[in-house]
Amino acid sequence: MLKTPFLERSSQKGSTSGEPFYDPLKSYEENYKDGPFGAFADGVDLRVNETPKINFLGFKINTPFGIPSGPLLNSKFCKAAFEKGFDVIHYKTRRSVAFPTNDWPNVLSVEIDGDLTLERAKKPLVGSTNFDKDPKKLSITNSFGNPSPEPPSIWQEDMKKAAVIAGSGQLLIASVVGTIQKGFSEEDYYEDFAKAAQMAKDTGVKVIEVNLSCPNVASEGIVCYSKNAVLSICKKTKEKLGKTPLLIKLGYFSLDQQDLLEDIIKNVLPYINGISAINTLPAPVVDKEGKQVLPGQGRLIAGICGASIKWAGLDMVKRLKQIREKLGKDFAILGVGGVMTPYDFFEYRNAGADVVQSSTGSMWNPNLAYEIKQKLTG
Ligand SMILES: Cc1cc2nc3c(=O)[nH]c(=O)nc-3n(C[C@H](O)[C@H](O)[C@H](O)COP(=O)(O)O)c2cc1C
Repeated sequence: MLKTPFLERSSQKGSTSGEPFYDPLKSYEENYKDGPFGAFADGVDLRVNETPKINFLGFKINTPFGIPSGPLLNSKFCKAAFEKGFDVIHYKTRRSVAFPTNDWPNVLSVEIDGDLTLERAKKPLVGSTNFDKDPKKLSITNSFGNPSPEPPSIWQEDMKKAAVIAGSGQLLIASVVGTIQKGFSEEDYYEDFAKAAQMAKDTGVKVIEVNLSCPNVASEGIVCYSKNAVLSICKKTKEKLGKTPLLIKLGYFSLDQQDLLEDIIKNVLPYINGISAINTLPAPVVDKEGKQVLPGQGRLIAGICGASIKWAGLDMVKRLKQIREKLGKDFAILGVGGVMTPYDFFEYRNAGADVVQSSTGSMWNPNLAYEIKQKLTG
């Protein structure tokens, strides 16, 4: 494992922020094998007796809250998340072929006060393994590169297990991404999204999301800003999925990209059932001396998530809602980005999100779903 000089993996244990269920000081592989950690490992079931009343993509769910694609690496993580009352959860993005994990570290805490505006994201942020801060204000990098195991049947077998452990009113969603392979044309690459989606459907998962917005694989780029790519991927994937609902995961579209966003949505609506937004905001991340901190080519820029990107997720949800009204069409909106507290959940719901999800916030607060349910019933 490569290490960058000033990053230490052992001394930060037991920080006052509490132990996250994904331990950033361990490698992805160690997390996969030994995790989840912290309260996600205590086996305590926080589910309350709810009658699933909310209709989401044709399924009845309890609370429209959960965890997006990312920190739930396998069925053990999914089981723990369901037990803690996260009712709509994603299994981490998988591929049709094996793909390596970016070298450790993958998750660093980044120094930023307030919003990570697009202007601010042009300048480097300082990243470190010091997570000893107020978890409600935390912003982090996530830079994994959408790893996928060899052979792919490993994730398929495990996803099968995850698909059957959802309790009443709970839903598992699979996330997949295409992989550029030797000799592939653009269309072959797009077809590979569909192939991965079919492989996920074969596991019994009832909803599939295509990840069109990963900023952490330099060679693949972020496909959601190309209308042709999005259209082709959605058409090909829908052909494979039939009636199984299809979601797309988008990154943030700036106000200058509003026409593009509308145009894409108008054209893909025949093929999709909903939109998740946002993924992370890309920004350069350096150490205290100003040097690239995540080791490896193409990793100066990393996806930033957590408190500082809430403005962007909320803004996208509001604009998606407006587009939905303008077009007079129905599609589900999954609001993601910087949801750290029950207040943030309500803000997203008021902005128009049908379902709200939290990645960074839930990693450091395993009780977040429970706290939201308390507020809803209290
Ligand atoms: C540890 C971690 C891993 C992630 N991996 C993925 C992934 O595999 N696929 C994906 O679409 N998004 C991934 N994300 C992005 C999240 O789904 C989410 O869009 C982003 O973190 C913003 O939400 P947050 O501010 O609540 O963290 C990951 C995020 C984190 C923190």
